Amino acid sequence: MSTTKLRLGVNIDHVATIRNARGCGYPDPIRAAKLAARAGADGITAHLREDRRHITDEDIRRLGREIDLPLNLEMAATDEMLDIALRHRPHAACIVPEKREERTTEGGLDVIGGFQHLKPFVATLSAAGVRVSLFVEPDPAALDAARALGAPVVELHTGSYCDAVDGDAREREFARIVKAAGHAQVLGLECHAGHGLTYDTVKPVAAIANIRELNIGHFLVGEAIFVGLEDSIREMRRLMDEARGRVGGAE
Ligand code: PXP
Repeated sequence: MSTTKLRLGVNIDHVATIRNARGCGYPDPIRAAKLAARAGADGITAHLREDRRHITDEDIRRLGREIDLPLNLEMAATDEMLDIALRHRPHAACIVPEKREERTTEGGLDVIGGFQHLKPFVATLSAAGVRVSLFVEPDPAALDAARALGAPVVELHTGSYCDAVDGDAREREFARIVKAAGHAQVLGLECHAGHGLTYDTVKPVAAIANIRELNIGHFLVGEAIFVGLEDSIREMRRLMDEARGRVGGAE
């Protein structure tokens, strides 16, 4: 049983997806971020994609101005995104792979093949005081490369675990996450996790003691249709705290 605080980063991208479906001004993702703060989020996560399919540049500006919670900017390793990150100086930047044709971030970063490309991004963001995390598959070799790149944080991609349809496959994927989280600890990397997490899949991941943060979005926004965003976030927070063996609150 752990007493370490597990942070919840609420990803507001899909509030913007709904807004952009009509090209109008609502629902407002910044309003969602304010509500997330009241509901127990410890941070706000937003992915500014190259094609701006959900979060826009103006959303990022407003998040910086209007939200007190730390902002975790998800970004591809491109010069355009680096300029934006250096202008806004979010608390954290999570570098993710990005392909135009994908529906969501479908896999972790290729930190081994992309090592030389990623190096100046990690260095420049870190020098600007932005805490860099690398979104990787739960694979020890990827964590070794992340460590060698000098990133202080890794975020483990939980998509394969969440998408696994039968119990055996899910257990295998979960074992990979446990092993990777342990390896991150040995390497001195702060370990986060996210992608595809739901009420059904969150608890085992939340119970891994050295995972410090979960970033969750799509399920929370979907569930909000039925119960409201504040309640969907509160329930996720409750499940995380329960898995962690905490009643919530203090570190
Ligand atoms: N973490 C990262 C790095 C992501 O790219 C995403 C999806 O944008 C998430 C977490 C959240 O995933 P989901 O929206 O499936 O909860």
